[in-house]
Amino acid sequence: MIETSLTEMFGLSHPIVLGPMGSVAGGLLAAEVSNAGGLGLVGGGYGDRDWLKRELHRVKDATSKPWGVGLITWSSDRSLVDWVLAHEPHAFMLSFGDPRPHAAIIKAAGCKLICQVQDLAGAELAREAGADLIVAQGTEAGGHGGRRATLPFVPAVVDAVSPIPVLAAGGIADGRGLAAALMLGAQGALIGTRFQASQEALCSPAAKEAITRARGDETGRTRIFDIVRSYRWPREYTGRALRNRFFERWHEKEFALELTMGIESRLYREATRNDDLRTAVVWAGEVVDLVDRIGRAADIVREIGTEAEALLHRGTALSLRRPPPSPQG
Ligand SMILES: Cc1cc2nc3c(=O)[nH]c(=O)nc-3n(C[C@H](O)[C@H](O)[C@H](O)COP(=O)(O)O)c2cc1C
Repeated sequence: MIETSLTEMFGLSHPIVLGPMGSVAGGLLAAEVSNAGGLGLVGGGYGDRDWLKRELHRVKDATSKPWGVGLITWSSDRSLVDWVLAHEPHAFMLSFGDPRPHAAIIKAAGCKLICQVQDLAGAELAREAGADLIVAQGTEAGGHGGRRATLPFVPAVVDAVSPIPVLAAGGIADGRGLAAALMLGAQGALIGTRFQASQEALCSPAAKEAITRARGDETGRTRIFDIVRSYRWPREYTGRALRNRFFERWHEKEFALELTMGIESRLYREATRNDDLRTAVVWAGEVVDLVDRIGRAADIVREIGTEAEALLHRGTALSLRRPPPSPQG
């Protein structure tokens, strides 16, 4: 078993956290991840209370293990945070914005505060907020994020916020990625895209299939899906999605899209209703190369955890190998 400060904090069997994917990571998915020994986070996204009410009850019913919830910081206010806390999550993740205004009430509720950050300035804000865990999210990640790459960003955050434990996010989908994250100094991995292609995820079967078929080269970061849905994301965040026909038509033509919003937003809503993925967004990370089947969430947790453990054992053996004798004897 891999033991880290993450597994110790929540009593986990595997240092794996489910990314709180908005409207995709529902209560059942979060509960299955927690039941398998990871930490499941419900994806509260922009804070739709009807959706949250249903999914928070679901997670509570389906697991007795620790679980949590994630919200998008810039779209959350005090009343929403209070309301979510009343459902007694064990962990509360804030991402995309300054977590400090909400930190005190989350911690006062006895809940662990997890902050996901995209740059070093964000890591500093998370440290000031008193985060119990900081997620260093690389640009490879599916969904919204920033510009730093996971490989150099994770150790930079580890150094900057020590002794606060750090998780790696962005581009991790198997045991190789988890083992690498631990070698970078992370205490575990937060994983989204791989769990999106799970049986329990709440996205459509067509979206899951599209992820298993896609290549990392076919993903890109863009603002167009936020523009057409009228979400006012701060400019520093873009979203990584599968490049579909709508992406090819409008990416880097944001101004023109804004001018035709009347028509385009109506067509977009229609495409979403019909699950037409030539137009509707499928958020997904570069790691889609490694996702080729739609598995059960519990199997995904165990498979990644066990594979990472085996690789770390093999790594230890490598580092103990003696150098070959010199030619002189
Ligand atoms: C479909 C999808 C939706 C996401 N929604 C959110 C969200 O609402 N809030 C959040 O903090 N992160 C969200 N993320 C980002 C994840 O928290 C995480 O950083 C990311 O999935 C990790 O990279 P990976 O996709 O390569 O595993 C989302 C990711 C995906 C794929």
